[in-house]
Amino acid sequence: MLEGTEGEKAIDISRLRELTKYITLDPGFANTGSCLSSITFMDGEKGILRYRGIPVQELAEESSFVETAYLLINGKLPNSNELNRFRMLLNDHSLVHEDMRTFFQNFPRQSHPMGILSSMVTALRSFYPALEGLSETEETTITLTRLLSKVRTMAAMSYKMSRGHMVVYPRPDLSYCANFLNMMFDSPVKHYHIDDDLVQALNVFWILHADHEQNCSTAAVRLVGSARVNLYAAISAGIAALWGPLHGGANQKVIEMLEEIQANGGDSRPFIERAKDKKDPFRLMGFGHRVYKTYDPRAKIMKAMCDKVLDKLHTHDPLLDIAVQLEEVARKDQYIIDHNLYPNVDFYSGIVLRALGIPTNMFTVMFAIGRLPGWIAQWKEDASDPNWKLSRPRQIYTGPNLSHYVLIKERG
Ligand code: ACO
Repeated sequence: MLEGTEGEKAIDISRLRELTKYITLDPGFANTGSCLSSITFMDGEKGILRYRGIPVQELAEESSFVETAYLLINGKLPNSNELNRFRMLLNDHSLVHEDMRTFFQNFPRQSHPMGILSSMVTALRSFYPALEGLSETEETTITLTRLLSKVRTMAAMSYKMSRGHMVVYPRPDLSYCANFLNMMFDSPVKHYHIDDDLVQALNVFWILHADHEQNCSTAAVRLVGSARVNLYAAISAGIAALWGPLHGGANQKVIEMLEEIQANGGDSRPFIERAKDKKDPFRLMGFGHRVYKTYDPRAKIMKAMCDKVLDKLHTHDPLLDIAVQLEEVARKDQYIIDHNLYPNVDFYSGIVLRALGIPTNMFTVMFAIGRLPGWIAQWKEDASDPNWKLSRPRQIYTGPNLSHYVLIKERG
């Protein structure tokens, strides 16, 4: 028997098969712990989320995305020298090899940015091969800083190129988040005004997405990383997993669903009825979570952020009204109550992103940039685990028993 620092209990079955010939069967891994981890704690019943012990609410109020990334990756908050050095490194590595532009140019115009991002992250390894003469720690520090910095540049680059616009380079005088907004929206004929409140909204958005323990994409990063593949390839696997509409792709699907409700007159009730109909594959996007059986703490902060950002911009988004109405009606519905379905982080995040000017097909890329520190921290934890093991689940075979090859001329 094992017990974690927050009282979570587990049965260690690592020698079960050796001793009994039995394995456990747990499709979807809902009852399976794959590792011991000291990075993120969440309690799905109480709606708690903490990075390295610190509540996400405190980080969203007090910290920056870069500082939170440092905390996740290094296990402690940085002092001012450490933070400045980290910021400097992120600035030094923010440019992308010019030859990578030809890659971007050759993707078909309609490509989904998540597919492009996943390919480009794998390609980074060819442009930035292993560094000779450095210790493993130095090499990891440079590789992870490159990733954090260049993924942000590549995301903005892909947006600009998809529109046929000139690429905007990162600026050393701007913070991580301000730089991203500037790379996305500045143009030689119309300068982008950097608004501190919008920069702060992006900081909070990315802090809230920075880690979420063993979710689908993080499990993918750890599993692929367990084959001792390089960090770029492991992160690329995480990006591919995050793309799924049941995972990070949900933020795009939420906006598409709200737009559909709007196009159908604005009443969410028929959509809730569809979600309850077992013959209809439709689900309420942005509702439900494998671990949270109460309100997702990130969704609460994100909801408050919608009002703040829209107020600041003096705009009104009718999709926010539809979202609030949908939540109100859904939360009184017996099916939704019985199934413990609450809004998750993706339900309100799209409205914040829309207000910042981010196009809908870039929403999941925004999630991926935010999740990078978590993926990196989890990969690093796995790579330095003295009890590390190649991940290789077993199965219960249900196919035919022994049968023999039949020559094609003798087959019926
Ligand atoms: N709408 C309608 N019914 C739902 C929903 C939903 N959004 N989510 C779960 N259910 C129902 C299922 O139909 C099932 O009902 P049943 O037991 O009567 O057959 C029951 O709740 C359990 O569903 P599972 O899919 O087994 O639960 P799981 O824990 O695997 O689901 C998931 C988690 C995949 C996130 C699910 O809630 C879902 O599909 N939500 C919509 C997509 C979404 O918002 N994803 C983002 C998640 S957060 C993130 O990844 C950042």
